[in-house]
Amino acid sequence: MAPVLQFFAPCPRGLEDALVQELQTLGAGQVRATPGGVHFEGDFVLGMSANLHSRLASRILQRVAQGSYRSEEDLYRLAHETPWEQWHDVTTSLRIDVTGVGAPVRSLQFAMLRIKDGLVDRLRERFGERPSIERQRPDRRVFAFLDAQQCILYLDWSGESLFKRGWRRDGVDAPLKENLASGLLALSGWTPDQVLLDPFCGSGTIAIEAALLAAGVAPGARRRFGFERMKTFDRARWDRLRSGPTRALPTTPSIFASDVSEAAIAAARTNYARTGLPEGWVQWRQRDVLHLDAAPAPSGLLLSNPPYGERLEIKGRQSLAQADAFWPALGSVFKQRFAGWTVALLTSDLEVPQRLRLKPSRRTPLFNGALECRLFRFDMVAGSARSRPNLQTIPRDSVP
Ligand SMILES: C[S@@+](CC[C@H](N)C(=O)[O-])C[C@H]1O[C@@H](n2cnc3c(N)ncnc32)[C@H](O)[C@@H]1O
Repeated sequence: MAPVLQFFAPCPRGLEDALVQELQTLGAGQVRATPGGVHFEGDFVLGMSANLHSRLASRILQRVAQGSYRSEEDLYRLAHETPWEQWHDVTTSLRIDVTGVGAPVRSLQFAMLRIKDGLVDRLRERFGERPSIERQRPDRRVFAFLDAQQCILYLDWSGESLFKRGWRRDGVDAPLKENLASGLLALSGWTPDQVLLDPFCGSGTIAIEAALLAAGVAPGARRRFGFERMKTFDRARWDRLRSGPTRALPTTPSIFASDVSEAAIAAARTNYARTGLPEGWVQWRQRDVLHLDAAPAPSGLLLSNPPYGERLEIKGRQSLAQADAFWPALGSVFKQRFAGWTVALLTSDLEVPQRLRLKPSRRTPLFNGALECRLFRFDMVAGSARSRPNLQTIPRDSVP
C-alpha cells in the first residue's frame, strides 16, 4: 500500500468549499476546509493529480512536520528532526517562507532563519554539504505556518504557483489570477453548454479558463512542477497520469468576450492562441460595454470583473459625472438586453448594486489577492424589462 500523505492546498479566500468539491472529485480523502485552504490526504499519485488537475488551488503542499513550540530553539529542533533527506538532497536550491498569526517569536524573519538552520544542519550531517538558499528561483520551497502554539512545516509540491498555467504572456492592467477566474466559473455554476459572456474581458482570463474547462484540458498540462525534482518522484506514473484521457464535453462552447481596449483584446487573442484550442470557441470583440449588441442568446451567464475604483478608471469616461452615470447606464443595459440571463460581477466596490440600481440575489465574499471583494449575482428575470422602455428607445448617444 502506498503511504498516505497529508496535504494542504491554499486557495483564494472564498473558494474553499468549491475546492473541497474539486479535490473530492479527484479522489482525495479526509477533505476539510479551513479559511484560506483545504486539508486532504492521499498517496503520491493523488498529490501529482491535484497539482495537474486543480483549477482552484494556489499550491499543493505536503505536511511534513507539526509540533508545539515556545521559542525559536524549538523551531530549530522541529526542522532538524524532520527527515528532509527523504525528499531532497543538497544539489537543489531552497527557499523558506514563514507566515504567522500570534506567533511568540522575536520576528518571522528570525523564525525563518532558525528553521533554515535546522534544515540545513540536518542535510549537512547526512550529505556532508549544505544546500544553497535561493530567494528568486528556488528549486524547492518550504513553508512554515506558526500560530500561538503550533508550527507546521510544509514541503511545496508545485514550484511556481498553480495559477500560472503557461498560456499567459501578454498581460494587461489588473488581470485576474487564473485560479480565481476558474473559481468564479465554479461559484456561478457555469457549465459549457451555457452561453458565457465577459464584457470587461481584459486579457481574457475568464473566457480562456472556461474554454479550457470545456475542452477538459488539465490546467497543469503545459507546465513543470516542484515534485518532479523530489527523490520520491515516479516518472512513469507521472507520464501515465499526464497522458490520461481528457474529459472534454461533447458540446462546443459559445463564449463571447469583449473589452473597450484594443490592446486588451489583442493580448487576449494572443493568450488564447497559446492554448491551442479551436479558434471559434471564443468570439473576441473590441466594444464598449454600453454599446454591446443584443445578447447573443435568450439566456446565459454574463460573468465579469469590471474596473475597480482603486485600480482602474472606466475607460472613455473622463469626468466624475460621466463615471457616475456609467453604472446606472450599465444597469439599464443588463435589464434591457440581458433579460433571462444571470449576471455575476466580481468587484471590491460594495456599492455596485446600488450604482447599477439592481438587487443582487446573492453576494459571495471573495478575496482577489488582499482585496476584499464580492461576487454579486443578479437574476435578470425575463419579462422584467417589459415594463421599462425597450432598447430602441434608448438612443446610443445618451449613454455617458
Ligand atoms: C479589472 S479589468 C478585467 C481584467 C480581466 N478579468 C483579466 O483577467 O485580464 C477591467 C477591464 O475593463 C475594461 N473596461 C474599462 N471600461 C470599459 C468599458 N466602458 N467597456 C468595456 N470594457 C471596459 C478595461 O479595459 C479592463 O480591461
